[in-house]
Amino acid sequence: MKTIIEPFRIKSVEPIRMTERPERERLLAAAHWNLFGLRAEDVIIDLLTDSGTGAMSSEQWAAIMRGDESYAGAKSFGRFEEAAQRRTGFEHVIPTHQGRAAEHLLFAVYGGAGKRVLNNTHFDTTRANCEASGARAVDLPGPAGEDTTSDAPFKGDIDLVALERELAEHGDAVSLVMVTITNNAGGGQPVSLACLRKVRELCDRYGKPFFLDACRFAENAYLVQQRETGCSGRSVAEIAREAFDLADGCTVSAKKDGMANIGGFLACRDADLAARLRQMLVVTEGFPTYGGLAGRDLEAIAQGLDEVVREDYQEYRHASIRYVVDRLHAAGVPVLRPAGGHAIFLDAARFLPQIPWNEYPGQALAAELYLAGGIRSCEIGSLMLGRVDPDSGNELPAHHELVRLAIPRRTYTQSHMDYLIEVVLDVHARKEALRGVGIVWQPAVLRHFSAHFEPLAKTAAV
Ligand code: F0G
Repeated sequence: MKTIIEPFRIKSVEPIRMTERPERERLLAAAHWNLFGLRAEDVIIDLLTDSGTGAMSSEQWAAIMRGDESYAGAKSFGRFEEAAQRRTGFEHVIPTHQGRAAEHLLFAVYGGAGKRVLNNTHFDTTRANCEASGARAVDLPGPAGEDTTSDAPFKGDIDLVALERELAEHGDAVSLVMVTITNNAGGGQPVSLACLRKVRELCDRYGKPFFLDACRFAENAYLVQQRETGCSGRSVAEIAREAFDLADGCTVSAKKDGMANIGGFLACRDADLAARLRQMLVVTEGFPTYGGLAGRDLEAIAQGLDEVVREDYQEYRHASIRYVVDRLHAAGVPVLRPAGGHAIFLDAARFLPQIPWNEYPGQALAAELYLAGGIRSCEIGSLMLGRVDPDSGNELPAHHELVRLAIPRRTYTQSHMDYLIEVVLDVHARKEALRGVGIVWQPAVLRHFSAHFEPLAKTAAV
């Protein structure tokens, strides 16, 4: 049959509270126009993130009941460690309460004043942890990612020419090379194995450690299977393993491809590095056999790491995202192509060309999607990723102005996707009337989470 169906039945359901536009206008104003300030029950379809928001399987819930909550040496740690070792091939596995805690530990070793960390695109928490250590987080997105309209297969690749130049020019300062798979901030686009092999070569030549930010390792592997020459006959698990084999270690948020609601880990091959990390772990997270998680969480992740590489699951997940991307594109909506791994990305710069980057077109579009249909999305543009140039002191725009519609794993059905398409098309039909937003208040770091906005009545001239 041609129809790709959800490869599961639904055992437990959660009601959605329906709202109308006038109520949503009041709610958004009360949240200072920041979608993070809304109560989840005031959202109809919550596409804020795919992180920790997925539905767990009956096997994961069963595993939760088997959770061993012993402080040290719990059976659940054994299962978690074995599953992570099998999936990644890394001998040392250090559990953390989520991905950013793993990043914090990593930068305690590789960060510090005067250091440079290179990445295709640092996710916001990765950048924040790197910079908090005093190091400089340098993004090197590949040239293919610049064009949001092309169908280039591997827009997540790191720019290998720029990477080599950085290593040649700043060799002593570079403490770590990272590649984020898939490249979340760059549109959920995959990184090819060919690119990872070149990164390995360069890191060997310059004697640098190479870590993956592997939150979405299985989605990356599926897209490699679909798009990279010579990979179509290989399994998702095998391709994922080759990516890990090329690296020295990884940080993982298990809230994504761990298929769990909480958790993360750091894994590596080097025993001395692992010993240092475990010592820090005891101070900030917990004893090395639970590291900030309950035994039951370790069980859910162990099971999730097996379920995520199943071919039918990946096929359904990507078909559902591709369905939305293809329909929006056919209707003339500027949407990032090709479809990425975990989300649909609207190109707000092309959707709302009348709004300049410093009036945050992505935030304006995200707000209107909520007002129009109760959909919660997330700006990934100059609000989240814009930064102050350390040399000139000027605020710099992000590479793209995107709105991310992140799809939680196994949570929404086909008709939810149809509703989403209808809402986006409704906003698109009225796009000329939309105006930008101004920042009324912002915190010092990670401003998109808590900044206050006001709608600008009239867009200023650029
Ligand atoms: N790295 C990437 C690529 C991520 O997407 C995230 C989280 C993290 C690291 C941090 O992991 O949340 O477990 O601490 N991304 C979420 C998102 C928040 O919405 O994309 P965490």
